[in-house]
Amino acid sequence: MNILGIESSCDDTGLAIVDSSGQIIAHVTSSQHQIHAKYGGIVPELASRDHVKKFIPLLDFLLNKANTKISDIGMIAFTNGPGLLGPLLAGASLAKALGWSRSIPTIEVNHLEAHIYSPMITEKNLAPPFISLLVSGGHTLLSIVDEDFQIKTLGTTLDDSAGECFDKIARKLGLGYPGGPEIARRSEDAIDNKFSFPRPMINSNDYNFSFSGLKTHVINKLQKIELTDESINNISFELQDSIVETLISKSLKASQDHGIKNIVVTGGVSANKRLRDKFSQVSNYDVFFPDVKFSTDNGAMIAYAGFLKSRSSDIEKNFKIKPNPSLTL
Ligand SMILES: Nc1ncnc2c1ncn2[C@@H]1O[C@H](COP(=O)(O)OP(=O)(O)OP(=O)(O)O)[C@@H](O)[C@H]1O
Ligand SMILES: [Mg+2]
Repeated sequence: MNILGIESSCDDTGLAIVDSSGQIIAHVTSSQHQIHAKYGGIVPELASRDHVKKFIPLLDFLLNKANTKISDIGMIAFTNGPGLLGPLLAGASLAKALGWSRSIPTIEVNHLEAHIYSPMITEKNLAPPFISLLVSGGHTLLSIVDEDFQIKTLGTTLDDSAGECFDKIARKLGLGYPGGPEIARRSEDAIDNKFSFPRPMINSNDYNFSFSGLKTHVINKLQKIELTDESINNISFELQDSIVETLISKSLKASQDHGIKNIVVTGGVSANKRLRDKFSQVSNYDVFFPDVKFSTDNGAMIAYAGFLKSRSSDIEKNFKIKPNPSLTL
């Protein structure tokens, strides 16, 4: 059975088809970055309208790419939250309308769960239990995922998410949106870095994060220096390192404390090369990332989570993804 996945929780319209073995046979993502860039953040109404405009042409494109027809789709998985209400409603409406008119069952997928399982799309031998670090635009969430796919939250950010910190500082530096990839690009050109930023809560004896103080620290620093290409590159480098070190330190603590060697890092910030490189240097842990194209929002992770869920009713005992109250809208 082929499953169609629909993602529209924020500013990416993502569609994908997964087959009965969990293989993604086609996927397409249309990003709205250019629409929102001039506002420095997402405008929900513009996001909803763009999803509505793109859905049908993208669906046609996807079906063509997969060399299949809508009548060959056996289930539709769609993001039901968390996210922006209008964009979510647009995706749910598409799923329900297609489902109703073609008699295809629909299945709701939690966006965060879809991120968390996204490395399993390509890492075929990966299965829970694992420690999960989800780092995205809206979340910084450290959890344990047990063998029954139950997600227990260990810690979260007390204020801004890691992605938000990248985005806000990038804006102050006059870089584009989204900020994470811009900061990453600028840090590659950093030479002779003289900045030293705090590693927030790195020694706190828990699994929580805080990035708001780091953001204020950097903004205060910006008021005292001249912004040149060189200083922007160096600030980018140090900001990225501060975030990366903090994320890695907390993940390793969770892994050590719970005796779980596998660490799964997902969400938009998991596309960060420095984070991937630094994690790959730690020994005694096995760290997994999604394919870079499935780090930020995409339809493939929704289709794949739908696939896992559909298996859970087929193979009751082996795959059980129960609703997780801490991860609902
Ligand atoms: N290479 C990168 N380095 C650092 N951050 C990155 C990189 N690529 C993307 N990001 C960040 O990832 C975030 C977007 O991730 P994602 O699309 O998963 O978030 P979201 O869907 O908006 O939030 P959530 O999943 O929590 O609802 C942005 O903050 C962006 O700056
Ligand atoms: Mg996301």
